[in-house]
Amino acid sequence: RVFADERPSKQRLLVVANRLPVSAVREGVDSYHLEISVGGLFLSDSYIYCVKEFDTRWIGWAGVNVPDDVGQKALTKALAEMRCIPVFLDEEIVNQYYNGYCNNILWPLFHYLGLPQEDRLATTRTFQSQFDAYKKANQMFADVVNKQYEEGDVVWCHDYHLMFLPKCLKEYNDQMKVGWFLHTPFPSSEIHRTLPSRSELLRSVLAADLVGFHTYDYARHFVSACTRILGLEGTPEGVEDQGKLTRVAAFPIGIDSERFIQALELPEVQARMKELKERFGGRKVMLGVDRLDMIKGIPQKILAFEKFLEENSHWHDKVVLLQIAVPTRTDVPEYQKLTSQVHEIVGRINGRFGTLTAVPIHHLDRSLDFHALCALYAVTALVTSLRDGMNLVSYEFVACQASKKGVLILSEFAGAAQSLGAGAILVNPWNITEVAASIGYALDMPADEREKRHQFNFRHVKAHTSQEWAATFGFNATLTEPLDALGR
Ligand code: G6P
Repeated sequence: RVFADERPSKQRLLVVANRLPVSAVREGVDSYHLEISVGGLFLSDSYIYCVKEFDTRWIGWAGVNVPDDVGQKALTKALAEMRCIPVFLDEEIVNQYYNGYCNNILWPLFHYLGLPQEDRLATTRTFQSQFDAYKKANQMFADVVNKQYEEGDVVWCHDYHLMFLPKCLKEYNDQMKVGWFLHTPFPSSEIHRTLPSRSELLRSVLAADLVGFHTYDYARHFVSACTRILGLEGTPEGVEDQGKLTRVAAFPIGIDSERFIQALELPEVQARMKELKERFGGRKVMLGVDRLDMIKGIPQKILAFEKFLEENSHWHDKVVLLQIAVPTRTDVPEYQKLTSQVHEIVGRINGRFGTLTAVPIHHLDRSLDFHALCALYAVTALVTSLRDGMNLVSYEFVACQASKKGVLILSEFAGAAQSLGAGAILVNPWNITEVAASIGYALDMPADEREKRHQFNFRHVKAHTSQEWAATFGFNATLTEPLDALGR
C-alpha cells in the first residue's frame, strides 16, 4: 500500500508529464478502466517512489478523448484514487500537438533523424499551426497545474512534450519552484538550430529553476545551444540570463531493479522460462524488445542478423532472433511506414533462411506482461538504437541476468552506453558488419568473460535505480540556491 505512511508534513510535489502512468479505457458512459501506460515503466516505477516519499499529485493526459462533462467527471474521480489529475485534450489538439509537433517534429529532430523525409515541404507548411497547438496544449497543462498549486509546492515537468510549460507556470506565479527533465537526447546545437521555434523553446525551458538530462553530453549540448542561439553565458552551474541562473545538470535514470530480481524467483516466471526453453528446442535466442519506433534501429538490427546468418552457415537452425516490437504512435504516418518495412524485411529473411520446421526470426507486434518479459530477458540482448535518451530495456535485461550472465550488445548511441559500456559489447548500429560480428562474438563468448561483463553492469543497475533518480532530482528541485555543478 503506497499511501499508508503518508504524513501531512511531506513536501508536496506536482509531477507533470504528457502521459499519466495509467491510461484510461472507456467501458461505459461514465465508467473507465485504468491500465499501466505502454512505455510508461519509468513513470510507474518513479510514480510509486514519488507517492511514497512526497505528497504527490500526477498531472497528465489519460490517452483518451473524453468530450462530454459526465465522462470527464467520472474519469477525474477514477484517477483521483491514483493521485492522478487529467488534462483533457480534444482530438484536434492531440493530432496537432502530440502526433504533429511532438512526434513528427521534435522527436525525430532530437534523435538526429531530421524532419520526415518525403514530407519535408509539407511539414514546413504545417509547422506553424502545429507549434501553435503545442503552445496551446502546454497552456492547458499549466492551467491544471495552477489550479492544484499551493504555496511551497515543487513542480516537476517531464520531457519534450512540455518544453513550453516552465514559462507558462512562471507567468502564473514566479515563486513556483519548477524543474524540467528531458527523457530524450538533447541534440547538438547544430541540429537544434534548424528548428524554426528554436529560441522560443530554449527561453521557455530556461524559465525553470532546474533543468535535467540523462547524460553530461545532453546537458552540454543544451548549454551550448543557449550560448550559440541565445547568446547567453554558460556557467559551471548552468545558464545565466540577466542575473537569473537556471541550474543545468545530469541525472541519469535507472530502474527498480529489485522488482526484476525478485520476479525471477516467482514460480510462474520460472515455469515460463522452462516453457520457452523447450519451445526453442535448444536453439540460442537473441532478444530485442523495443517500441516500434524508427529511433530503435529495428530494420538495421534485422539486417545485421541476416548478415550474421549469411556469414555463419554453421549457426543456421541453431540461433533465433526474437523481436518484440511494441506498437506505438500508430496514427503518425512515419510509424505506419516503419511497420510495413520491418514486416517486409522479416518475411524476406525468413523465406531465405527458414526451413520446414523453423524460422530464424520471430517478430511480434505486441507488448508483453511483466512476468513474460522477465522470463524472456534471460537470454542475449540486442539493443541497436540509432539514438536513445537512455534505453532502460538494457537495464532491465541486465537485472534479469543473475544466473544466465547473458551478453548485452548495445548501441553506442544510447545514453545507457555511458553507464553500461564496460560490460556490454558496444556497436555502431549503422555498421551491420560490425553488429553481425558482435553477434558471433557474443554467441561464442567464454563463461568467465560473460561473468565479468555481467558483474560490472549488474552492480551499476542495482546501485543506480529509478528511486535514487527521483530522490536526487526531487531534492535538487526543492533547493533555491545552486548546489550542483554540471554533472552532479
Ligand atoms: C519515450 C518518451 C516518453 C513517452 C514514451 C512513450 O520514452 O520519452 O515521454 O511517454 O516514449 O511514448 P508515447 O508517445 O506513447 O507516450
